[in-house]
Amino acid sequence: MTRRKMLVSGGLGFLGSEIAKNFFQDFDITVIDNLSTNVVSIDDLKDICNEISYRNMDLAKMSEEDLDWLNTELKDTTIFCHFAAAVGVKKIDQSPKEAIINENKVGHDLLPLLAKHQTKTIFASSSEVYGNQENCKEDQCLQIGSPDILRWGYACNKLMTEFLLKSYEIPHIILRLFNVTGPGQSPKYGMVMPKMIRDAIKTGKITIYGDGTQTRSFCHVSDLIASLEYLIEQDKFSNQTINIGNDKNRVTIEELAHLIKDTLELDLEIETIAFNDEYSDNSKDILKRSPSIEKLKQFYHPQVELKAIIKDIAKKYE
Ligand SMILES: NC(=O)c1ccc[n+]([C@@H]2O[C@H](COP(=O)([O-])OP(=O)(O)OC[C@H]3O[C@@H](n4cnc5c(N)ncnc54)[C@H](O)[C@@H]3O)[C@@H](O)[C@H]2O)c1
Repeated sequence: MTRRKMLVSGGLGFLGSEIAKNFFQDFDITVIDNLSTNVVSIDDLKDICNEISYRNMDLAKMSEEDLDWLNTELKDTTIFCHFAAAVGVKKIDQSPKEAIINENKVGHDLLPLLAKHQTKTIFASSSEVYGNQENCKEDQCLQIGSPDILRWGYACNKLMTEFLLKSYEIPHIILRLFNVTGPGQSPKYGMVMPKMIRDAIKTGKITIYGDGTQTRSFCHVSDLIASLEYLIEQDKFSNQTINIGNDKNRVTIEELAHLIKDTLELDLEIETIAFNDEYSDNSKDILKRSPSIEKLKQFYHPQVELKAIIKDIAKKYE
């Protein structure tokens, strides 16, 4: 029997590489990445499975050769996991033009090809589209802030890709991801969980931006992978949007800092500084963010609780 094929854009990033590592037994996998914010190399993936292939390609600037390659690949691709993006509040804060234009162009030539081949596409959208809201449900009204604050360009681009997937009539599942984290996530672009844990272990100090009352719900990457195992094989949620997160792991950022201190049994200094001492006027902090996961719970219940997430990430820095 011929093996099924999966293409993963952003496949050398945190989530894309986890997908490659977890699905190579069932699929022939090719990862596409432009090495802009990758966290692994293709050699790292080949150490796990030598059969995983790699195409160095910028989806936002595809050459004729890239387009021909993609067109040929998509003829017999079963699943396209679309995870390439410029990610992280810090990344968008530091180079908003580059990040927003990248995200805007990434789908420009890709989506028509996915439509032509009717490739089942799993798109990594973001909880950012909900803005400042708690207990967010997939069908509720969304909230995008003013374009004067460039951070919102990320959410706007995610939402536009959601619209385009539907307009092009590409068979799809949209995942709105709520703070999916794990040892593979880089602290480099402001991801709060790996950054706090790294700083706690390496410097003995955690910095909270703002007053610490902001809420977030953290989901372990293994819970994303387990939900993908279902979504890739089943058609029940075709052309739908699903929140992926863990509603039991909702904390304020101040609570998170103390939980890290207690869980890792560290003698830590916890300091608070103003959000805009660290971030420019391109960014504004999100004060409330948590998912409703009623839809996800129709087929999967997230497993990994907050203390276990902290311990798992800490192993990388100890
Ligand atoms: N981790 C989360 O909690 C979270 C939350 C919401 C949304 N997402 C989405 O999930 C996806 C993966 O996120 P991640 O945390 O793995 O980020 P990541 O930065 O680790 O991975 C993104 C990868 O995409 C690649 N890339 C960027 N632009 C590209 C381009 N033009 N062409 C080819 N490759 C390109 C990067 O080099 C990187 O390897 C992103 O689309 C992100 O917006 C993640």
